[in-house]
Amino acid sequence: MEKLLRNFFLFLASNKQLTKAAKRYGMKFGASRFVAGATLNGALSTIKDLNNQGFSVTIDHLGEFVDNEVEAVEMADHCIQAIKGIARDHLESQLSLKLTSMGLDISHELCLANMRRILDTAKEHGVFITIDAEDHAHTEATLDIFKELKSEYDNIGTVVQAYLYRTVDDLEDLNPYHPRLRIVKGAYKEPPEVAFPDKKDVDQNFKNLITIHLLRGNHTAIATHDDEIIRFTKELVRKHNIGKDQFEFQMLYGIRPERQRQILAEGYNMRIYVPYGEDWYGYNIRRLAERPANVAFVLKGVFGK
Ligand code: FDA
Repeated sequence: MEKLLRNFFLFLASNKQLTKAAKRYGMKFGASRFVAGATLNGALSTIKDLNNQGFSVTIDHLGEFVDNEVEAVEMADHCIQAIKGIARDHLESQLSLKLTSMGLDISHELCLANMRRILDTAKEHGVFITIDAEDHAHTEATLDIFKELKSEYDNIGTVVQAYLYRTVDDLEDLNPYHPRLRIVKGAYKEPPEVAFPDKKDVDQNFKNLITIHLLRGNHTAIATHDDEIIRFTKELVRKHNIGKDQFEFQMLYGIRPERQRQILAEGYNMRIYVPYGEDWYGYNIRRLAERPANVAFVLKGVFGK
């Protein structure tokens, strides 16, 4: 039943018509639990609050399925405004983005041009940029662009997904770049031809990838709400004497906040992924797919408290 619901939500998340309709009807469906408002100012004040509690942040201007150049340029402008806002307010925040919102589906050159504008501004203000991982159809193009930009800029990292069979090879391919990588399970609906269908294989691969990347001396962000993966990482770093400056835990805004505080209190670096913007639909529905129990929050959003 859980798997059925997951597939249903992931189908909804990938529907372009629904994405556009949701944007028109505003921040409903419990979005505010996982999204720090529709505006940059709202997100900046959330970041300030999180920084005051000791958390680091990565901000994300929500957007996907961008299919025209004007919108892709606008998306990049939003990222530049966010970087300037972070610098102006002296916040401790990185920025995460998706290459499909920078024009990846339109042209390689447009996507690169948007990324270079963002990276130049980010470099000027000392802000680090992470390229999120999307569905497997975009993996190759995303990693190609990452490698091209990484040879020009220091302030860039990306994400690998433990559910993909290819990721262990991607780690080999990326290693010469000594990348700062965020490792996640993977949030999209993927066929068994490309991704492990069973959670236990995904979890085992996650542990394997963390071990390889950390023991090679690379900075690693372990992005998960899964207690077993967190326990495994703590044991690994203790056993190999890996310093706290070489890794961090990351979680999503609004998910397991009490666990986020606990990890911070134990002395680990904890970064919160804070999404904002009008294009909240796909992001929110993927959170429901991860945990259908969150439907209760959605119903609350629709029918009131
Ligand atoms: P899993 O889903 O197995 O959950 C483990 C436990 O955590 C659950 O048993 C539950 O207790 C709790 N939990 C999980 N989800 C919850 C929820 N929604 N509400 C309440 N409790 C919940 N994916 C991707 O494809 N590309 C990307 O770039 C990123 N980026 C990213 C950044 C950060 C900071 C995080 C934390 C995650 C991502 N992801 C992502 C999403 C990731 O791939 C994955 O879908 C989610 O993190 C859920 O998987 P978990 O590792 O948390 O484990």
